[in-house]
Amino acid sequence: MDNPEWLFRIRKDLEKITGQVACEIWPTPKGKPYFNYRLEHVRQVERDARWLLQQVGGDEDIVLASVWLHDRFQPQLAKPDRHALLAANWIRENLAETGFPQEKINLVAYVVAMHSSEPQSLPEEDHDARVLWDADKLTKLGPLSYTNMIAVMPAFPEHVMSYGEIVRMAKDELDRRKELVELFYFPVSRKRAAQRVAAQECFLNQMRRDIAGV
Ligand SMILES: [Fe+2]
Ligand SMILES: [Fe+2]
Repeated sequence: MDNPEWLFRIRKDLEKITGQVACEIWPTPKGKPYFNYRLEHVRQVERDARWLLQQVGGDEDIVLASVWLHDRFQPQLAKPDRHALLAANWIRENLAETGFPQEKINLVAYVVAMHSSEPQSLPEEDHDARVLWDADKLTKLGPLSYTNMIAVMPAFPEHVMSYGEIVRMAKDELDRRKELVELFYFPVSRKRAAQRVAAQECFLNQMRRDIAGV
């Protein structure tokens, strides 16, 4: 699909929103953020959503708009409970200005509102909402998960890092993420999730051996 103008606009918008906050919490002397976690997350949600759309189908406009709008009220690490609803309200009031097809706006708002819904709570007819839910959660698994875990740490300068600490964090992260695997809506998502978790396990086990000196 050619990238429509509205997609270009909502991408630029998120780059700006996330970039400003990223500069505050990960400043560098060059005035650029060391890491823009939220932007990396959303870029990956797009990759995973496009892959999932190829596998299970869905409305590309609705899913891609939802990808780029779902976390606009959660620009970095804070977890305001209402970020999904705030984004849905923003969509109803503002998305039309980007040239996005009018008749699909309410559907985008719904998909975005549902992205933080409880696992397995979306009915089958909410197909596009299921696609976003799965893509959003897939990005939290695998090497991406450990990369994020380590790369965000300069935002917590009181936290002392060491290889041992990374192993401890990686173990907690793996235990948390493992539970997600069976909760995806689509079997292809579960398969990809299992692959990613297996890679995490491999990383953790090897690093444990390495720092044990065996
Ligand atoms: Fe979110
Ligand atoms: Fe997200």
